[in-house]
Amino acid sequence: MKTEYYVGNVKIKPNLVLAPMAGVTDSAFRKLIKRCGGVGLIVTEFISVEGLTRNNLKSHKLMYFEPEEKPISIQFFGHNSDRMAAAAEVAEAAGADIVDINCGCPAKQVVNSGGGSSLLKDLPKMEKILKETRRVIKIPLTLKYRIGWDENSINAVEVGKMAEACGIEQVAIHGRTRMQGYSGFADWNVIAQVKQAVKIPVVGSGDVCSAEQALQRLRETDVDGVMIGRGAMANPWIFRQIDEIMQGITPHQPTIEEKRIFLVDYLAVMLQEMPTEKSALGKVKQLCGHFTRGLPGGATFRNQIFHSNTVSELTDKINEYFATVEPELSYV
Ligand SMILES: Cc1cc2nc3c(=O)[nH]c(=O)nc-3n(C[C@H](O)[C@H](O)[C@H](O)COP(=O)(O)O)c2cc1C
Repeated sequence: MKTEYYVGNVKIKPNLVLAPMAGVTDSAFRKLIKRCGGVGLIVTEFISVEGLTRNNLKSHKLMYFEPEEKPISIQFFGHNSDRMAAAAEVAEAAGADIVDINCGCPAKQVVNSGGGSSLLKDLPKMEKILKETRRVIKIPLTLKYRIGWDENSINAVEVGKMAEACGIEQVAIHGRTRMQGYSGFADWNVIAQVKQAVKIPVVGSGDVCSAEQALQRLRETDVDGVMIGRGAMANPWIFRQIDEIMQGITPHQPTIEEKRIFLVDYLAVMLQEMPTEKSALGKVKQLCGHFTRGLPGGATFRNQIFHSNTVSELTDKINEYFATVEPELSYV
Protein backbone atom coordinates (compact mmCIF):
# COMPACT_ATOMS: atom_id res chain seq x y z
CA MET A 1 0.00 0.00 0.00
CA LYS A 2 1.37 3.39 -1.00
CA THR A 3 1.63 6.22 1.51
CA GLU A 4 3.02 8.93 -0.80
CA TYR A 5 3.43 9.71 -4.50
CA TYR A 6 4.65 12.41 -6.85
CA VAL A 7 2.71 14.54 -9.31
CA GLY A 8 5.55 15.58 -11.56
CA ASN A 9 8.05 16.87 -9.00
CA VAL A 10 5.42 17.73 -6.38
CA LYS A 11 5.53 15.30 -3.46
CA ILE A 12 2.14 14.28 -2.10
CA LYS A 13 2.67 12.96 1.41
CA PRO A 14 0.55 11.49 2.80
CA ASN A 15 -1.28 10.36 -0.31
CA LEU A 16 -4.57 11.84 0.87
CA VAL A 17 -6.29 14.54 -1.16
CA LEU A 18 -9.06 16.94 -0.15
CA ALA A 19 -11.62 16.72 -2.97
CA PRO A 20 -12.67 19.88 -4.77
CA MET A 21 -16.19 20.82 -3.69
CA ALA A 22 -17.84 23.87 -5.19
CA GLY A 23 -19.40 26.06 -2.53
CA VAL A 24 -17.53 24.20 0.22
CA THR A 25 -13.76 24.04 -0.23
CA ASP A 26 -13.00 27.74 -0.20
CA SER A 27 -9.74 28.99 1.25
CA ALA A 28 -11.19 29.27 4.78
CA PHE A 29 -12.49 25.70 4.82
CA ARG A 30 -9.31 24.36 3.25
CA LYS A 31 -7.15 26.01 5.92
CA LEU A 32 -9.29 24.63 8.76
CA ILE A 33 -9.13 21.14 7.22
CA LYS A 34 -5.39 21.39 6.68
CA ARG A 35 -4.89 22.38 10.32
CA CYS A 36 -6.65 19.17 11.39
CA GLY A 37 -3.70 17.36 9.78
CA GLY A 38 -2.93 14.57 7.34
CA VAL A 39 -3.84 16.29 4.06
CA GLY A 40 -1.24 15.74 1.34
CA LEU A 41 -2.87 17.81 -1.40
CA ILE A 42 -5.61 20.39 -1.55
CA VAL A 43 -7.69 21.26 -4.61
CA THR A 44 -9.67 24.48 -5.05
CA GLU A 45 -13.33 24.58 -5.98
CA PHE A 46 -13.74 24.49 -9.74
CA ILE A 47 -13.26 27.83 -11.45
CA SER A 48 -14.72 28.88 -14.78
CA VAL A 49 -12.05 29.60 -17.38
CA GLU A 50 -14.58 31.80 -19.14
CA GLY A 51 -14.95 33.89 -15.99
CA LEU A 52 -11.25 33.98 -15.14
CA THR A 53 -10.05 34.95 -18.59
CA ARG A 54 -12.72 37.66 -18.81
CA ASN A 55 -11.49 39.07 -15.51
CA ASN A 56 -14.58 38.14 -13.55
CA LEU A 57 -13.83 39.14 -9.96
CA LYS A 58 -15.60 36.12 -8.47
CA SER A 59 -13.48 33.70 -10.51
CA HIS A 60 -10.30 35.49 -9.44
CA LYS A 61 -11.40 35.35 -5.79
CA LEU A 62 -11.98 31.60 -6.09
CA MET A 63 -8.35 31.25 -7.12
CA TYR A 64 -7.12 32.88 -3.93
CA PHE A 65 -5.06 30.67 -1.63
CA GLU A 66 -2.54 31.11 1.18
CA PRO A 67 0.93 29.59 1.53
CA GLU A 68 -0.19 27.25 4.33
CA GLU A 69 -2.52 25.51 1.86
CA LYS A 70 0.38 24.31 -0.28
CA PRO A 71 0.79 22.05 -2.14
CA ILE A 72 -2.33 23.28 -3.87
CA SER A 73 -3.96 22.44 -7.16
CA ILE A 74 -6.19 24.95 -8.92
CA GLN A 75 -9.08 23.35 -10.75
CA PHE A 76 -10.68 24.78 -13.88
CA PHE A 77 -13.67 23.89 -15.99
CA GLY A 78 -14.49 25.02 -19.48
CA HIS A 79 -14.88 23.89 -23.05
CA ASN A 80 -12.53 26.19 -24.94
CA SER A 81 -8.90 25.09 -25.22
CA ASP A 82 -7.49 28.62 -25.67
CA ARG A 83 -9.25 29.86 -22.56
CA MET A 84 -8.27 26.76 -20.58
CA ALA A 85 -4.63 27.31 -21.55
CA ALA A 86 -4.83 31.02 -20.68
CA ALA A 87 -6.39 30.25 -17.29
CA ALA A 88 -3.67 27.68 -16.57
CA GLU A 89 -1.03 30.33 -17.25
CA VAL A 90 -2.72 32.66 -14.77
CA ALA A 91 -2.75 29.90 -12.13
CA GLU A 92 0.91 29.13 -12.72
CA ALA A 93 1.82 32.80 -12.39
CA ALA A 94 -0.20 32.96 -9.15
CA GLY A 95 2.02 30.25 -7.63
CA ALA A 96 -0.18 27.17 -7.94
CA ASP A 97 1.69 23.88 -7.59
CA ILE A 98 -0.61 22.01 -9.99
CA VAL A 99 -3.38 22.85 -12.45
CA ASP A 100 -6.32 20.45 -12.64
CA ILE A 101 -8.94 20.19 -15.39
CA ASN A 102 -12.48 19.19 -14.48
CA CYS A 103 -14.14 16.68 -16.79
CA GLY A 104 -16.50 15.35 -14.16
CA CYS A 105 -18.97 18.04 -13.21
CA PRO A 106 -22.50 16.75 -13.87
CA ALA A 107 -24.33 20.09 -13.45
CA LYS A 108 -26.60 20.98 -16.35
CA GLN A 109 -25.33 24.53 -16.82
CA VAL A 110 -21.73 23.25 -17.08
CA VAL A 111 -22.58 20.26 -19.26
CA ASN A 112 -24.83 22.26 -21.60
CA SER A 113 -22.02 24.68 -22.33
CA GLY A 114 -19.74 21.78 -23.32
CA GLY A 115 -17.59 21.56 -20.17
CA GLY A 116 -17.33 19.21 -17.19
CA SER A 117 -18.49 15.65 -17.77
CA SER A 118 -19.85 16.42 -21.26
CA LEU A 119 -16.23 16.20 -22.44
CA LEU A 120 -16.42 12.46 -21.70
CA LYS A 121 -18.64 12.31 -24.80
CA ASP A 122 -16.22 14.30 -26.94
CA LEU A 123 -12.73 12.90 -26.45
CA PRO A 124 -11.17 14.75 -29.42
CA LYS A 125 -12.23 18.03 -27.80
CA MET A 126 -10.96 16.89 -24.41
CA GLU A 127 -7.66 15.88 -26.02
CA LYS A 128 -7.29 19.30 -27.64
CA ILE A 129 -7.90 21.02 -24.30
CA LEU A 130 -5.39 18.78 -22.51
CA LYS A 131 -2.68 19.12 -25.16
CA GLU A 132 -2.95 22.87 -25.55
CA THR A 133 -3.01 23.46 -21.83
CA ARG A 134 -0.08 21.09 -21.29
CA ARG A 135 1.93 23.02 -23.86
CA VAL A 136 1.71 26.41 -22.11
CA ILE A 137 2.58 25.61 -18.47
CA LYS A 138 5.59 24.07 -16.78
CA ILE A 139 3.89 22.96 -13.56
CA PRO A 140 2.08 19.60 -13.50
CA LEU A 141 -1.28 19.35 -15.22
CA THR A 142 -3.81 16.84 -13.90
CA LEU A 143 -7.29 15.66 -14.84
CA LYS A 144 -10.34 14.82 -12.73
CA TYR A 145 -13.18 12.96 -14.36
CA ARG A 146 -16.03 10.51 -13.90
CA ILE A 147 -15.94 6.91 -15.14
CA GLY A 148 -18.19 7.72 -18.10
CA TRP A 149 -21.28 9.58 -19.23
CA ASP A 150 -23.66 6.74 -18.42
CA GLU A 151 -23.53 3.04 -17.65
CA ASN A 152 -23.48 2.20 -21.36
CA SER A 153 -20.53 4.43 -22.15
CA ILE A 154 -17.96 3.81 -19.43
CA ASN A 155 -14.68 5.01 -20.90
CA ALA A 156 -12.50 5.71 -17.88
CA VAL A 157 -9.61 3.54 -19.12
CA GLU A 158 -9.65 5.12 -22.58
CA VAL A 159 -9.69 8.61 -21.04
CA GLY A 160 -6.86 7.71 -18.65
CA LYS A 161 -4.65 6.43 -21.49
CA MET A 162 -5.44 9.43 -23.63
CA ALA A 163 -4.64 11.80 -20.77
CA GLU A 164 -1.33 10.04 -20.15
CA ALA A 165 -0.43 10.37 -23.83
CA CYS A 166 -1.19 14.11 -23.63
CA GLY A 167 1.36 14.53 -20.81
CA ILE A 168 -1.14 14.69 -17.94
CA GLU A 169 0.64 13.87 -14.68
CA GLN A 170 -2.20 12.51 -12.55
CA VAL A 171 -5.77 11.40 -13.06
CA ALA A 172 -8.33 11.53 -10.27
CA ILE A 173 -11.44 9.51 -10.96
CA HIS A 174 -14.82 9.79 -9.28
CA GLY A 175 -16.24 6.28 -9.64
CA ARG A 176 -19.70 7.35 -10.79
CA THR A 177 -21.11 8.17 -14.21
CA ARG A 178 -22.46 11.59 -15.06
CA MET A 179 -25.99 10.22 -15.20
CA GLN A 180 -25.65 8.80 -11.69
CA GLY A 181 -25.08 12.23 -10.23
CA TYR A 182 -24.43 11.34 -6.59
CA SER A 183 -26.79 8.35 -6.44
CA GLY A 184 -25.75 4.74 -6.07
CA PHE A 185 -22.15 3.94 -5.25
CA ALA A 186 -18.78 4.76 -6.73
CA ASP A 187 -17.41 1.85 -8.78
CA TRP A 188 -13.86 1.33 -7.55
CA ASN A 189 -13.37 -1.64 -9.88
CA VAL A 190 -13.27 0.77 -12.80
CA ILE A 191 -10.83 2.99 -10.92
CA ALA A 192 -8.62 -0.08 -10.34
CA GLN A 193 -8.76 -0.87 -14.07
CA VAL A 194 -7.44 2.61 -14.88
CA LYS A 195 -4.64 2.08 -12.37
CA GLN A 196 -3.66 -1.09 -14.21
CA ALA A 197 -3.76 0.65 -17.58
CA VAL A 198 -1.60 3.75 -17.00
CA LYS A 199 1.77 4.61 -15.45
CA ILE A 200 0.84 8.07 -14.15
CA PRO A 201 -0.55 8.36 -10.60
CA VAL A 202 -4.20 7.45 -10.19
CA VAL A 203 -6.27 8.89 -7.36
CA GLY A 204 -9.62 7.32 -6.48
CA SER A 205 -12.66 9.30 -5.37
CA GLY A 206 -16.07 8.32 -4.11
CA ASP A 207 -17.75 7.34 -0.88
CA VAL A 208 -14.69 7.19 1.36
CA CYS A 209 -16.21 8.07 4.72
CA SER A 210 -13.90 6.41 7.23
CA ALA A 211 -10.22 5.72 7.73
CA GLU A 212 -10.90 1.99 7.35
CA GLN A 213 -12.55 2.50 3.95
CA ALA A 214 -9.66 4.65 2.74
CA LEU A 215 -7.09 2.05 3.74
CA GLN A 216 -9.14 -0.72 2.16
CA ARG A 217 -9.35 1.20 -1.13
CA LEU A 218 -5.62 1.88 -1.12
CA ARG A 219 -4.86 -1.79 -0.43
CA GLU A 220 -7.36 -3.35 -2.80
CA THR A 221 -7.04 -1.11 -5.84
CA ASP A 222 -3.36 -0.15 -5.61
CA VAL A 223 -4.28 3.47 -6.37
CA ASP A 224 -1.63 6.07 -5.59
CA GLY A 225 -3.93 8.19 -3.46
CA VAL A 226 -7.46 8.61 -2.21
CA MET A 227 -9.51 11.77 -2.47
CA ILE A 228 -12.09 12.55 0.18
CA GLY A 229 -14.90 15.06 -0.12
CA ARG A 230 -18.11 14.63 1.83
CA GLY A 231 -16.34 12.42 4.36
CA ALA A 232 -14.11 15.38 5.24
CA MET A 233 -17.12 17.60 5.82
CA ALA A 234 -18.45 15.01 8.25
CA ASN A 235 -15.06 14.41 9.83
CA PRO A 236 -12.31 16.96 9.15
CA TRP A 237 -9.86 14.77 11.09
CA ILE A 238 -10.28 11.83 8.69
CA PHE A 239 -6.99 12.56 6.87
CA ARG A 240 -5.04 12.69 10.11
CA GLN A 241 -6.66 9.44 11.27
CA ILE A 242 -5.73 7.62 8.04
CA ASP A 243 -2.19 9.00 8.16
CA GLU A 244 -1.75 7.94 11.77
CA ILE A 245 -2.99 4.42 11.07
CA MET A 246 -0.58 4.21 8.12
CA GLN A 247 2.21 5.20 10.52
CA GLY A 248 1.14 2.62 13.09
CA ILE A 249 -0.07 5.27 15.54
CA THR A 250 -3.42 5.11 17.33
CA PRO A 251 -5.66 7.49 15.38
CA HIS A 252 -6.69 10.75 16.95
CA GLN A 253 -10.30 10.82 18.11
CA PRO A 254 -11.51 14.41 18.20
CA THR A 255 -13.14 15.44 21.44
CA ILE A 256 -16.52 17.09 21.52
CA GLU A 257 -14.78 20.33 22.40
CA GLU A 258 -12.55 20.09 19.33
CA LYS A 259 -15.63 19.57 17.19
CA ARG A 260 -17.45 22.47 18.74
CA ILE A 261 -14.42 24.70 18.24
CA PHE A 262 -14.15 23.64 14.59
CA LEU A 263 -17.71 24.80 13.91
CA VAL A 264 -17.40 27.99 15.94
CA ASP A 265 -14.09 28.83 14.18
CA TYR A 266 -15.71 28.13 10.84
CA LEU A 267 -18.55 30.49 11.69
CA ALA A 268 -16.08 33.21 12.73
CA VAL A 269 -14.10 32.88 9.50
CA MET A 270 -17.24 32.80 7.36
CA LEU A 271 -18.49 36.00 9.00
CA GLN A 272 -15.24 37.67 7.97
CA GLU A 273 -15.11 36.30 4.47
CA MET A 274 -18.66 36.04 3.20
CA PRO A 275 -20.32 39.17 1.79
CA THR A 276 -23.38 38.98 4.06
CA GLU A 277 -24.28 37.47 7.44
CA LYS A 278 -26.99 35.46 5.70
CA SER A 279 -24.51 33.81 3.32
CA ALA A 280 -22.12 33.08 6.23
CA LEU A 281 -24.96 31.41 8.15
CA GLY A 282 -25.89 29.42 5.05
CA LYS A 283 -22.36 28.04 4.75
CA VAL A 284 -22.23 27.05 8.41
CA LYS A 285 -25.64 25.37 8.22
CA GLN A 286 -24.46 23.39 5.20
CA LEU A 287 -21.37 22.19 7.05
CA CYS A 288 -23.35 21.42 10.22
CA GLY A 289 -25.56 19.14 8.13
CA HIS A 290 -22.63 16.91 7.23
CA PHE A 291 -20.71 17.41 10.46
CA THR A 292 -23.42 15.95 12.68
CA ARG A 293 -24.37 13.10 10.36
CA GLY A 294 -24.78 9.94 12.43
CA LEU A 295 -24.37 11.76 15.73
CA PRO A 296 -27.05 11.26 18.40
CA GLY A 297 -29.63 14.03 18.23
CA GLY A 298 -28.05 15.21 14.96
CA ALA A 299 -31.36 15.38 13.10
CA THR A 300 -32.96 17.58 15.78
CA PHE A 301 -29.88 19.79 15.85
CA ARG A 302 -29.92 20.18 12.07
CA ASN A 303 -33.57 21.14 12.20
CA GLN A 304 -32.88 23.73 14.91
CA ILE A 305 -29.96 25.34 13.12
CA PHE A 306 -31.93 25.39 9.89
CA HIS A 307 -34.33 27.75 11.63
CA SER A 308 -31.62 29.94 13.22
CA ASN A 309 -31.54 33.33 11.61
CA THR A 310 -28.90 35.19 13.58
CA VAL A 311 -25.28 34.56 14.52
CA SER A 312 -26.02 34.46 18.25
CA GLU A 313 -28.89 32.03 17.75
CA LEU A 314 -26.72 29.72 15.66
CA THR A 315 -23.81 29.94 18.11
CA ASP A 316 -26.14 29.13 21.01
CA LYS A 317 -27.54 26.11 19.18
CA ILE A 318 -24.03 24.82 18.40
CA ASN A 319 -22.90 25.29 22.00
CA GLU A 320 -26.09 23.72 23.39
CA TYR A 321 -25.86 20.75 21.08
CA PHE A 322 -22.24 19.93 21.83
CA ALA A 323 -22.88 20.27 25.55
CA THR A 324 -25.40 17.42 25.30
CA VAL A 325 -23.56 14.87 23.10
CA GLU A 326 -22.23 11.89 25.01
CA PRO A 327 -18.43 11.91 24.63
CA GLU A 328 -18.12 8.25 23.68
CA LEU A 329 -20.82 8.61 21.02
CA SER A 330 -19.28 11.62 19.38
CA TYR A 331 -16.47 9.73 17.68
CA VAL A 332 -16.64 9.58 13.95
C1 LIG B 1 -20.95 19.86 -2.82
C2 LIG B 1 -20.03 19.21 -3.81
C3 LIG B 1 -19.34 20.00 -4.71
C4 LIG B 1 -18.45 19.42 -5.63
N1 LIG B 1 -17.73 20.22 -6.46
C5 LIG B 1 -16.76 19.68 -7.26
C6 LIG B 1 -15.90 20.50 -8.03
O1 LIG B 1 -15.96 21.74 -7.98
N2 LIG B 1 -14.98 19.89 -8.82
C7 LIG B 1 -14.86 18.52 -8.89
O2 LIG B 1 -14.01 18.01 -9.62
N3 LIG B 1 -15.65 17.73 -8.15
C8 LIG B 1 -16.58 18.27 -7.34
N4 LIG B 1 -17.33 17.46 -6.54
C9 LIG B 1 -17.09 15.99 -6.56
C10 LIG B 1 -16.08 15.62 -5.46
O3 LIG B 1 -14.82 16.18 -5.71
C11 LIG B 1 -15.96 14.09 -5.33
O4 LIG B 1 -15.39 13.55 -6.49
C12 LIG B 1 -17.31 13.42 -5.07
O5 LIG B 1 -18.05 14.13 -4.09
C13 LIG B 1 -17.14 11.97 -4.58
O6 LIG B 1 -16.35 11.93 -3.43
P1 LIG B 1 -16.93 11.87 -1.92
O7 LIG B 1 -17.85 10.69 -1.86
O8 LIG B 1 -15.68 11.69 -1.09
O9 LIG B 1 -17.64 13.14 -1.65
C14 LIG B 1 -18.25 18.01 -5.64
C15 LIG B 1 -18.95 17.23 -4.73
C16 LIG B 1 -19.82 17.80 -3.82
C17 LIG B 1 -20.54 16.92 -2.84
